[in-house]
Amino acid sequence: MEGLNFKQIGISFKGSGSYVPDQILTNQKISQKVDTSNEWIKSRTGISERRISSLGDNVTEMGYKAALAAIEMANWDIKTIDLIVLATSTPHDLFGSAPSIQAKLGASKAVAFDLTAACSGFLFALITASQFLKVGGYKRAIVIGADQLSSFVDWNDRRSCILFGDGAGAFAIEATYEFDNLIGFDMRTDGERGCFLNLPSKNNKDSIIDNIDFLSGAFSPIQMNGQEVYKFAVREVPIILEKLLKKMKYTSDEVDWLVLHQANQRILDSVGDRLKIPKEKILSNLEKYGNTSAATIPLVMDEAIKNNRIKQNDIIATSGFGAGLSWGAALIKWG
Ligand code: ACO
Repeated sequence: MEGLNFKQIGISFKGSGSYVPDQILTNQKISQKVDTSNEWIKSRTGISERRISSLGDNVTEMGYKAALAAIEMANWDIKTIDLIVLATSTPHDLFGSAPSIQAKLGASKAVAFDLTAACSGFLFALITASQFLKVGGYKRAIVIGADQLSSFVDWNDRRSCILFGDGAGAFAIEATYEFDNLIGFDMRTDGERGCFLNLPSKNNKDSIIDNIDFLSGAFSPIQMNGQEVYKFAVREVPIILEKLLKKMKYTSDEVDWLVLHQANQRILDSVGDRLKIPKEKILSNLEKYGNTSAATIPLVMDEAIKNNRIKQNDIIATSGFGAGLSWGAALIKWG
């Protein structure tokens, strides 16, 4: 295509990859730490176990491994990658972890940066990267979702610590000239309701010298109003997906897979019921990994792609939602 003057108009999906740490924390083990039980967690969330990073499994390492698997599936020469966008709320380096992933990959031509939008992060990063490809600036991009929330969970708070795990997932996407497999998308933010889910900085006051104070950089553990986040998700996610399907002139019957941010099985079931999408079409791996934040969507999709459940040209309705509060939806054709 180079030199033929075709206009880049869309993207196609060329590869996927994922990575989870080896350490498994089961519900039974959590109940040794806080007053809970396997029955309570399983029935309220669908989660049985989650993966926890040990030393060496930070966001850079996990994101690198997921990205490498996606590049291998795409069969790309690493030097042809133009862009790397890492969605994370838990970077290994607050200045950004994407550059370290770029260096580990040896993707010296690629510009690399982080994007933070909590559990909506992967979807927002996919949409952001696709815009760079559509305007013609870049041809090949890696989009990564990776999070290590285990480092920021209050492991004494039974209302939130049961939910989260660590992991990473990635897509390799390429500019196209005749079609667009990102069929449509929408993104929303409501900062007014942001107080329902936070990972806030600590206001630790210290002094540099007399009369010159500063706030030392550190974060408080995750603070969550679970019921409000639940109500937000079961209300907003069906609305944004219904509107997107209508706008792109698709019916829910034409959707092969519903891929939601993996927060709670009850949320997945409720959204599926509202959209009249049967359970067999709803991807879920919550049982094994819990909520891995920005990683959930590429992680569950990578599994389904590698298991030949998601096939070329399958239509996927996807939605990410979470802190911000933020939420988004995309309608994609795989391949
Ligand atoms: N084990 C046993 N009992 C518990 C536990 C636990 N782990 N946690 C709470 N309880 C108790 C509560 O104390 C309460 O007891 P009480 O009635 O005596 O006060 C009772 O169980 C019911 O608590 P609820 O909070 O009403 O439980 P709910 O059914 O709402 O389930 C849950 C809680 C699972 C957190 C649910 O609200 C939820 O999944 N919310 C969505 C959260 C979410 O997805 N957050 C992530 C968003 S993505 C992102 O951006 C990071």
